[in-house]
This record gives sequence, C-alpha cells and structure tokens, in this order.
Amino acid sequence: MLASTHVPVMLDETLQALAVQPGGRYIDCTLGGGGHASAMLERTQPGGQLLGIEADPAALKIAAARLTPFGNSALLVNDNFVNLKNICAQHGFMPVHGILFDLGLSTIQLESRRGFSFQTDAPLDMRVSPNTELSAADIVNSLSESELANLIWRYGEEPDSRRIARMIIQSRSIETTGELVRAIEKAVPGYRGKIHPATRTFQALRIAVNHELENISSALEQAVELLGYEGRLVVISYHSLEDRIVKQFMQREARGCICPPGLPKCVCGHKPTLRIVNRKVITSSPEEIALNPRARSAKLRAAERIFTPDAPKGGSSERHERMKSESGGARSPETLMRLRVAFSSFCLS
Ligand SMILES: C[S@@+](CC[C@H](N)C(=O)[O-])C[C@H]1O[C@@H](n2cnc3c(N)ncnc32)[C@H](O)[C@@H]1O
Repeated sequence: MLASTHVPVMLDETLQALAVQPGGRYIDCTLGGGGHASAMLERTQPGGQLLGIEADPAALKIAAARLTPFGNSALLVNDNFVNLKNICAQHGFMPVHGILFDLGLSTIQLESRRGFSFQTDAPLDMRVSPNTELSAADIVNSLSESELANLIWRYGEEPDSRRIARMIIQSRSIETTGELVRAIEKAVPGYRGKIHPATRTFQALRIAVNHELENISSALEQAVELLGYEGRLVVISYHSLEDRIVKQFMQREARGCICPPGLPKCVCGHKPTLRIVNRKVITSSPEEIALNPRARSAKLRAAERIFTPDAPKGGSSERHERMKSESGGARSPETLMRLRVAFSSFCLS
C-alpha cells in the first residue's frame, strides 16, 4: 500500500459526531494524509473552512496535494497541536464548529523508514516532527536501566519492562529498529502472547519521543476554549493511555464541581463546559476492521460545548452569539434530534 493511501478510520462516524454542516468552520488537529479533512471540507461547502494542523512535513505535503481542489477553504499549518490556541489566534480562526483529533500515526509515518515500525529495519528515530529534540536512539542509549524500565512500563504497560530494559543496556549502543527488536526478543524468548513482544516497547518510546500524552492533555484544554456554541470535540484514540486521558478529560469537563472528595464545600467553582455526546465509546464495525486492521484499536469519543452563564472558559457569549447567527443560527430542535438519532446508531449497546 502506498503511503498516500492512508484510510481514514471511522469516517462516517467522525462526520456525524462532528455534525459537519455547510458553511461551518472546523479544525483537523491531526491532518495526516488529509482523508478526514477532505471529507469534512466536502460537507462544509459552500462556504466552509478547515484549518489543518500537522507536525510531520512529509504528511502535510501529501495532504496539501489532496486538498488542492478546495483552494482557500483549506488552511494548512505545519505545527504541533500543542500550539493550537496560538495557531488559531495567528490566523483568526475561532470560534469553530468542530475540532477533530485522530491520534497516533498514519500509514505515511509507518512506511517512512523513520523507525516507527518494528517490522522494517530502519534508523531508530521515531520523531514525528524533525524539530523534536531527542530521537528514540538518544533515549535508549542514554537512560539508566531503571529509567528505561519505568518508561517502558509507564508508556507501554509492558509487564516484562525490567527484563527488556536490562537487555537493552547490555546491547547498547542501539541505532536501528532491528537491533532493538533483537534485544527485546532476547529479553523475552519464546514469547507466546497475541502481539509481537516489541509492540509495547515501541509504543512507549514513540510516546516519550513525541511527548504524546502531555501534548494531548494540553491540546484538549485549548480545544474547549476554541469551540463555539454547540461546537463538537471529537477524538479518536488508539491505545488505552490516550483513551484514558480523553475519557477523564471529557468526564471532568462535563461535571460541575471538581473539588477533591471530602471537602465540606466547593472551592473550585468549576462549571461544566462540555456535554458528552456518546456515553459509550464508539468503535469500528467488524467490516471496517476486516478492510483496515488499524481500525481495530480505535475508540471515538465526542462531546459538545455548552455554556453556563458564568463559565470560566471560552470567549464572550457575545462572540458565540455572533457565530451562531453567522452560521445560519442554531440548529433546530428537529435537526438536533435527527443528528442524535443518527449518531446513536453507532453506539454499541
Ligand atoms: C492517525 S494520523 C491522521 C490521519 C488523518 N485523519 C487522515 O485521514 O489522513 C495522525 C496524524 O497526526 C500527526 N500528529 C501526531 N501528533 C501530532 C501533534 N502533536 N501535532 C500535530 N500533528 C500530529 C501525525 O503526524 C499523523 O500524521
């Protein structure tokens, strides 16, 4: 399969969850090859706009070619979504009707020989953006045994993290994916698990190299501030560490008080900023998984921006009222009901 043929995961579910509408303004924080973005742009015409953010210049180039037909409706930025608010401020792109995060890697990275895949021998790099300071090789060749074991345990949830860390230390210096795979295979010989023994260690290193979990937490906070009236936040995650962050974030933002339990009275003053759209996480259909194995681990969560009179976050209610009227007014109760009914058909019961 060519890199440019990355197949967007849960495309219909994503479009429904975002409630994409003509004339709407959307952000795709993980543009990849532009699969989700081009479908979003199609649905937003006439008059819609999309801001696409992508950290990997190689992926951005592919997306740019794919989105050329949309001309000025697509604004593409080579940056990290951790800078989301600044990017939007620079381009005057707020408030928005919907924000998508399709986390993880695209086929473009997996086939890039930049060390993301343990199935191809390549330099042990794993940097999504060339601007990232440390590569995976820098990490495996410089941490102590206990630091490595902790990293592999924390970000890979690898039960054999200690044995793997010990063998990595004994095998240093490690410069390629092949050398790392051989060290892991020596550490856990005769492994009979369902997944390749290098899977979790590779995940851990990739997360560490790209600061993935910190970036998601920060970007979710920023996203809520950019969403306008009934704007939708949709996140597709591919492993439990990501999904836990997204789930806990949405649950917290959907609550009022978030004080630690046991306090006699609320001191946080937190007001809900989101309404959770799908209580049950949405997963890919067996048909999609059969066609696209990457979809197997995907989990989609969606939430809708709400405003309480003195909500601490978000722009002024005046700005959101303006956006409401600019986009043709709020959706009617009938439209909303139709969207919800259509959307609920994706929820697993
Ligand atoms: C799963 S792919 C997205 C695929 C895309 N939805 C499509 O349909 O082609 C995730 C993309 O997010 C990018 N990415 C990962 N972390 C990022 C970050 N912090 N900032 C910007 N882009 C990031 C990756 O480079 C990758 O191209």
